[in-house]
Amino acid sequence: MAAKRQYDLVLFGATGFTGGLTAEYLALHAPATTRWALAGRNRSKLEAVRTRLAALNPACAKLPLIEADVGDAEALRQLAQSTTVVLTTVGPYILHGEPLVAACAAAGTHYVDLTGEPEFVDLMWLKYHELAQKTGAKIVHCCGFDSIPHDLGAYFTVLQLPQGVPLKVEGFVRAGGTFSAGTYHSAINAFGRMREYAKVVKQRRAREQYPQGRRIGSTRQAVRYEKSLGTWVVPFPTVDPQVVRRSAAALDRYGPEFRYGHYVQVKKLASVAALIGGVSALFTLAQAGPTRRWLLSKQTSGQGPSAERRAKSWFRVRFHGEGGGKKVVTEVKGGDPGYSETAKMLAESALCLAHDKLPDRAGQLTTAAAMGDALLARLQRAGISFEVVAQ
Ligand SMILES: NC(=O)c1ccc[n+]([C@@H]2O[C@H](COP(=O)([O-])OP(=O)(O)OC[C@H]3O[C@@H](n4cnc5c(N)ncnc54)[C@H](OP(=O)(O)O)[C@@H]3O)[C@@H](O)[C@H]2O)c1
Repeated sequence: MAAKRQYDLVLFGATGFTGGLTAEYLALHAPATTRWALAGRNRSKLEAVRTRLAALNPACAKLPLIEADVGDAEALRQLAQSTTVVLTTVGPYILHGEPLVAACAAAGTHYVDLTGEPEFVDLMWLKYHELAQKTGAKIVHCCGFDSIPHDLGAYFTVLQLPQGVPLKVEGFVRAGGTFSAGTYHSAINAFGRMREYAKVVKQRRAREQYPQGRRIGSTRQAVRYEKSLGTWVVPFPTVDPQVVRRSAAALDRYGPEFRYGHYVQVKKLASVAALIGGVSALFTLAQAGPTRRWLLSKQTSGQGPSAERRAKSWFRVRFHGEGGGKKVVTEVKGGDPGYSETAKMLAESALCLAHDKLPDRAGQLTTAAAMGDALLARLQRAGISFEVVAQ
């Protein structure tokens, strides 16, 4: 990036539920020298957030406020040009995300978000990856629970295995927590857009270059009882396995052949049926406009789990890795996955892009490819555990 910009970070969406938690994390943990600002579409709401932050850290009383609506391209252009990094919690991203990605890619501004929406990620790759490569912008999606524990957990597992040999890794996630309105809206919207998503996937597959001489793929996945975990494991086709495989494609360290399988852990076989039945029911209702609108009306933007509920929430992701005659079991664990830890992961990703020495890559990147070791170290210091359980 050429000249020094006015801010190191701008947080867009500071007035929302996850944006508010991210702002609180930055107020308490950003270095005093970090120059940052709050952005959103409503000035009085931004002022209220700033007052709340000043109670946590008096220095925040002077935080600059930037008014910008996603419908105002000029305001987003100015926002992107004013800062080294933008972190955004304005979702659902498929509805609201593109204008800011466009502004950051054009301005050479690093960008992080919380999307877990595969269609949005692929669409942004198709439209802005090449531009971002030219301007030097690092566009890093999925910097929350989707997909940092899985992406950096798989990366951490690979680092424990021999180099230059075929590797296989499986990730098994378990979590106790609940959703915010924003996450619920993103999921329902994504369920209702499967046809659009299929088109975008096809276009990306047709254009994307795969690494020469290396093979990246999936393991054969089916519902099974995993004795070592004492639970059933169900294939979990979220954005996470896509992100892990993209990291493997970007980084030679994953070896000449890398296969990944992604599962959710479920205690009882009856819960497997309930999980599949619940998701199928939501999916079916999301297909038609009226029932989708009814589902969306069940939650109001800005709502999310209470501090008490978040304090009781947790996540654990086990990884089984093998290759070159070696086996390893690793685990990533932390507190409330969707919000407290997500706010931490997003804020640390932005601080990492603003302040750390990073690999010289640009364009749409995964967290492992953009920030790898530097972000891993930050998250460990911030209390998210990455450890080797057995080898
Ligand atoms: N994948 C993960 O791990 C993960 C975890 C948590 C959240 N998320 C995602 O993060 C996103 C936010 O979730 P949330 O629960 O925090 O949602 P939320 O409370 O509804 O917040 C949405 C934010 O977007 C802002 N916004 C909406 N339309 C806007 C516009 N036209 N211009 C500017 N700002 C606009 C809202 O501003 P106002 O306050 O002015 O309305 C608010 O600040 C969702 O997409 C969710 O799926 C992902």
